Amino acid sequence: MQTVHTIADVQAFVGARRAEGLRVGFVPTMGNLHGGHLTLVEKAKQHSDVVVVSIYVNPLQFGPNEDYDSYPRTVEQDQQLLTEHGVNLLYAASTNEIYPEGSDNHTHVTVDILDGMHCGSSRPGFFRGIATVVTKLFNIVRPDIAVFGEKDFQQLTIIRKMVSDLCLPVEIIGAPIAREDTGLAMSSRNGYLSAEERNDIAPALYRCLSDARSAIQEGETDFDLLRRDAFARMAEAGFKPDYFNICNPQTLLPATHNERSLVILAAGYLGKARLIDNIYFDR
Ligand code: PAJ
Repeated sequence: MQTVHTIADVQAFVGARRAEGLRVGFVPTMGNLHGGHLTLVEKAKQHSDVVVVSIYVNPLQFGPNEDYDSYPRTVEQDQQLLTEHGVNLLYAASTNEIYPEGSDNHTHVTVDILDGMHCGSSRPGFFRGIATVVTKLFNIVRPDIAVFGEKDFQQLTIIRKMVSDLCLPVEIIGAPIAREDTGLAMSSRNGYLSAEERNDIAPALYRCLSDARSAIQEGETDFDLLRRDAFARMAEAGFKPDYFNICNPQTLLPATHNERSLVILAAGYLGKARLIDNIYFDR
């Protein structure tokens, strides 16, 4: 696997592969790779001939009191994992080139309505930062397909809408959530948890989601009750709950009682981490 750091080098590599008629797949990440990221790589391999992964901890998607400085940066370990998984190119981007005049003095992409809900209401500017950097990365790499995880369901919904609204020439592919044996969704931020938080408390988030799904599938229609119950159980387990929203999976608006498919989006603070998870199902 080749590692490059500049836009010119990415474009030289991808341009040469395209000239050979190869299909280019892309997986954008912030690094500190785990099993979830690697399932995205495998999915990209199924849909393309050449796989490009980017690693860039994007300052524009972190709030002033968030973990930008402490976000884990483990490039050598990541390079090894990507090599083992047959990735062709790692683009380790640099802020000098992504935001040459600073991230405040830059054109922004916003996906109105969707970006103010759920995680967007707890983290103002978060999705604007993501939509902006992903647009740039698409224009730099110019992939045929790009893979995103359903773990970040709202992010995936926003990227799909952005690609459709702006007619970006890339196909977006979603990949299922990779979980640990306890049910905990894999995440770089799980590394912030103590062993006890990770093993004994964090899995409660997915249990609350699964139990709400079971209740709905058994006929429960009082979504407020389910939400209050989940909040109480998250708090009892040791979380500070942020949200637990039962939604229409396309609009992410509160579900009515007519949808056949639903998504439940949940977030909570645990120790030094803010964890998110979701469950997508048919009634
Ligand atoms: P990051 O958190 O590194 O995640 C990169 C990709 O991996 C995202 O598409 C995310 O949904 C996916 N992912 C993370 N954990 C997963 C899991 N347990 N199962 C399946 N997929 C998982 O998301 C970002 O980075 C950034 O916002 C980015 C899109 C790179 C823009 O900066």
